[in-house]
Amino acid sequence: MIKLIYPDTKVDTEKAKQILAEISQNPMGGWFNLPNNYDKEEFARIKEAAKKINNNSKYLVCIGIGGSYLGHRALIEALDPVSPTKVLYAGNSLSSISLKKVLDELGDNDFSVNVISKSGTTTEPAIAFRIFKEKLIKKYGEEEANRRIFATTDASKGALHDEAVTKGYTRFVVPDSIGGRYSVFTAVGLLPLAVAGVNIDNLLAGAKEFTKDLENPAESAILRYAFTRHDFRESGHDVEVLSSFEPNLMYFNEWWKQLFGESEGKDGKGIFPASVICTTDLHSMGQYLQEGRRNIFETVIKVVNSEIDFTIPKLDDDCDGLGYLEGKSLNHVNEQALEATVSAHKTGNIPVIKIEIPDISEKSFGALIYFFETACAVSAILGKVNPFNQPGVEEYKREMFKLLGKTGF
Ligand code: PA5
Repeated sequence: MIKLIYPDTKVDTEKAKQILAEISQNPMGGWFNLPNNYDKEEFARIKEAAKKINNNSKYLVCIGIGGSYLGHRALIEALDPVSPTKVLYAGNSLSSISLKKVLDELGDNDFSVNVISKSGTTTEPAIAFRIFKEKLIKKYGEEEANRRIFATTDASKGALHDEAVTKGYTRFVVPDSIGGRYSVFTAVGLLPLAVAGVNIDNLLAGAKEFTKDLENPAESAILRYAFTRHDFRESGHDVEVLSSFEPNLMYFNEWWKQLFGESEGKDGKGIFPASVICTTDLHSMGQYLQEGRRNIFETVIKVVNSEIDFTIPKLDDDCDGLGYLEGKSLNHVNEQALEATVSAHKTGNIPVIKIEIPDISEKSFGALIYFFETACAVSAILGKVNPFNQPGVEEYKREMFKLLGKTGF
């Protein structure tokens, strides 16, 4: 499954056990045992709703931001599944240009909406929801529009919850004990994923299997990663760059940045999470990584097996000088680029953590999500911050509401 190849950091096993117990008892630690303990009834309802959407909608507009958006987008982009319904994303910015793009693609095709907001009051998704709700009502009339709205929100409170109850939308719950960025394995992630054709049984099976990683703390990839990050942080490395050699992982990087950024960046502390996609970014950020400020460490994700591959063709006159690569597989070249980059960065004094995932599959990504969620919580606690709150996010909202004239601000 997921392997941490290097470095070989020692885990303080007593401390690790204490932190894991703390996470599992935390009122916001509901995600920790989720792969072993998910709501089977809700899971069946998700699959049923996905089938219905696949039968009547060419598009599903997923409205949400932050933890209500990035997890499922990351997995859909990475796994590239096949489905009769394409997922579109809205409500993750306030940009009219982005909104127009979604509306243009939607055209007059059949669609449904999954509005996702734990609080049910976030401005960006709330505005987008008004717009797509209006479009649904114009196209289908109010009754059918209400049947095409799927609301994922709090079990008992919030504006979205109240509206969903009044209008009779199909409702899914974000449990109280699970915050946005830890919610991929709830309906927040699972409904869009199931609609997009991701096998959510395999996704959860991968996560479940990987919970065993914690059984032996000294050998655990999760704990070794968390303790390594902590050591790097203590030695003044306050920027972590997540590198991947698969462009389909771009949104996975975005999910990872949110997870670590919101969990660790508080009280004047935290490692700044950055990311690159290689080899593309070696031609932009590569220079800085190799020779810029030495406060960076790098975490490289290597995908071991890829089903898709190409052979570099033969050319009789070798006019491009690539003869030495003829007959070689493109994946082999990509792999050598990864190893070469690691070697160059180590020489340039960037400490490197190498993580291997077996392949790009639901099982591997289920495990990878669990790997990072757990490592993130452990790492935040090692760094003496609360992994589960995000008080700083409120500040821009207060300023924005003041400027927009919202009552009470
Ligand atoms: O991780 C988090 O808690 C945040 O990123 C939230 O997911 C984000 O702010 C959206 O919040 P909500 O789901 O309440 O609309």
